[in-house]
Amino acid sequence: MDAISVIRTKRDRGELGDEQIDWVIDAYTRGEVADEQMSALAMAILLNGMNRREIARWTAAMIASGERMDFSSLSRPTADKHSTGGVGDKITLPLAPLVAACGAAVPQLSGRGLGHTGGTLDKLESIPGWRALLSNEEMLHVLETTGAVICAAGDGLAPADKKLYALRDVTGTVEAIPLIASSIMSKKIAEGTGSLVLDVKVGSGAFMKTIEDARELASTMVGLGTDHGVQTVALLTDMSTPLGLTAGNALEVRESVEVLAGGGPADVVELTIALAREMLDAAGIRDADPAKALADGSAMDVWRRMIAAQGGDPDAALPVAREQHVIKAPASGVLTRLDAYGIGVAAWRLGAGRARKEDPVQAGAGVEMHAKPGDTVTEGQPLLTLHTDTPERFAYALEAVAGSYDIAAPGTAFTASPVVLE
Ligand code: URA
Repeated sequence: MDAISVIRTKRDRGELGDEQIDWVIDAYTRGEVADEQMSALAMAILLNGMNRREIARWTAAMIASGERMDFSSLSRPTADKHSTGGVGDKITLPLAPLVAACGAAVPQLSGRGLGHTGGTLDKLESIPGWRALLSNEEMLHVLETTGAVICAAGDGLAPADKKLYALRDVTGTVEAIPLIASSIMSKKIAEGTGSLVLDVKVGSGAFMKTIEDARELASTMVGLGTDHGVQTVALLTDMSTPLGLTAGNALEVRESVEVLAGGGPADVVELTIALAREMLDAAGIRDADPAKALADGSAMDVWRRMIAAQGGDPDAALPVAREQHVIKAPASGVLTRLDAYGIGVAAWRLGAGRARKEDPVQAGAGVEMHAKPGDTVTEGQPLLTLHTDTPERFAYALEAVAGSYDIAAPGTAFTASPVVLE
């Protein structure tokens, strides 16, 4: 077998055979297939697609490239959730302890932000002392003792995806449905969860810009999970506007703690509870009420224990950026658009995200929103506050924000998009 014949098959719109797929994934993981060859193959897959059989085999080969975890020793059913990524998407933070408080074990392997979308690990690392890197034994211990763990995937889990994802990121090949579906599901299946809820984001701030693409991605992933014995469901949710009122690491932790304390923005609360219900249902837990567990403080108790078990101080003051710049509403009226992509790019440019994988992030950087679509605003009132430690970034962030919002005449009728679309 050789890489060039595999590339040519897909370049010429052929179907890759099982042996070709197994070989190319294994040889790439071992370094025998070079990055430039895998880039060419990834581009051919992006342009010419894969059928369901090819996607299933590709996913199985990525799972087989590393170890599989096993949570069968736990006394509780496992439930996991994965979001395809968005702006202000802090939902994992309140959701994992909430679902644990309702009786499931939540092993949440999470990622870092790249580009305009935020990453759960970057957010949690703004809590002084908190550690994302745990050994498999530590992960199991935190899960057993607190009911939830949020940490980085170990190097042994789907190593083919680690290499391939980093390569896709720099070769314009992230947005291929077969590659996204196999990337996400190989990690989730190798992680060993019994059930999985997928939050497939749709809109300007998401990878999937249209509902049709989001449906295809969702049904591909649900099919892969089901074939591997993971009880999998997907929700399509709105990412045309940011979730909540903050985008940025410590800013989002603060907002998540507000949700765990029984407050917080309505859209974050609604999506957290909707996903919790799906996770509990998929895990076979039918008698718990997530709204009650948020209100009575039991989710907050799990959060505090989970943060402390990973070295964090749940009572520590969160970092605040050194500089702020307030953008005021240019007119009075109804805010009819606040674009997720523009806000995400601004937060990224302020230092909340990274341009290259190895870049550090600023814990306090990001965007605070003072109004959401549908709200009435008055000329001169604060609309957005930009936060950064490095004020030379303001001009660059302001470019991203310009054109990201619309204010219509006072009294204009406005119907907000639902948070859960399907
Ligand atoms: N998240 C992943 O883990 N992989 C992708 O390809 C896209 C989003």
